Amino acid sequence: NWTMEDFIDTQVEKIRQEVGSEKVLLGLSGGVDSSVVAMLLHRAIGDQLTCIFVDHGLLRQGEAEQVMASLSDRFGLNVIKVDASKTFLDKLKGVTDPEQKRKIIGKEFIDTFDAEASKLKGIKFLAQGTLYTDVIESGTSNAQTIKSHHNVGGLPEDMQFKLIEPLRTLFKDEARELGEKLGLPHDLVWRQPFPGPGLAIRILGEITADKLEIVRVSDAILREEVKNAGLESEIWQYFTVLTGVRSVGVMGDGRTFDYTIAVRAITSIDGMTADFYRMDWDLMQKISTRIVNETPRVNRVVYDVTSKPPATIEWE
Ligand code: XMP
Repeated sequence: NWTMEDFIDTQVEKIRQEVGSEKVLLGLSGGVDSSVVAMLLHRAIGDQLTCIFVDHGLLRQGEAEQVMASLSDRFGLNVIKVDASKTFLDKLKGVTDPEQKRKIIGKEFIDTFDAEASKLKGIKFLAQGTLYTDVIESGTSNAQTIKSHHNVGGLPEDMQFKLIEPLRTLFKDEARELGEKLGLPHDLVWRQPFPGPGLAIRILGEITADKLEIVRVSDAILREEVKNAGLESEIWQYFTVLTGVRSVGVMGDGRTFDYTIAVRAITSIDGMTADFYRMDWDLMQKISTRIVNETPRVNRVVYDVTSKPPATIEWE
């Protein structure tokens, strides 16, 4: 007769016992799992929790703001927000290889977190949003770079934390339910999967501030239209990709030579396989028109009709 209320009570008690009057550190990624852990720890130990939110500048429109608004502003959690977008952009300059991008982002993320963490004094514990699936799949997920890094003991000598992983027995859906019970906004809790390297792997080729803006604006339009159509829970994942392709178009009296945006929308159970979503033509037209009109430097929109396999869900 297990309920989420029981789970909360038990965990809160357990965390209080373990932590006592010590301080706990948590890395926020902008994703669901770390936000849920933050809320749970806040409930248990209040001000003894400090969160570090590394904003790598590769999040979607409004995402960093939403995390800050729901955790810091609304519930008063201690959140240190590190705006590292410029550093990430610098490190990614000239990099076109997808795996290279992932490596750079992963390393930079850890370095930024560690640099910030080492400024804090007297921290004894490090909390993480490890889920049951992360435990059993061990090592395949790079959703939270901090997680894998700090699990393998890559911390500097002078930063030996004890780990707290209160979601270790939960599946994703349970973690989400927990998040809602703890007061996180529905939108944040039920958001579609979003890769750790963020928008970087949705820009084919080199990443620039201008290209980030293009993919961010087009993605926001797609999300808004999917939401308005009431399809948020029907489509497993949906996003836009800034392809490296530029093609000719006409705008008013002039000829344009601008970018092509690909819209990707898929259905899936777990992301291992996927089918392209059969999107309504009228909805596609609406999305396409808005993207071309409202996104700078885009004159063409295509729809990805490939399933996985043979394609992957992301383009990089
Ligand atoms: P693919 O593109 O491999 O994606 O079919 C499967 C699922 O995994 C997500 N994905 C990532 N998530 N770090 C992550 O945390 C990554 O580097 C990464 N690459 C892909 C992708 O969004 C999809 O849900």
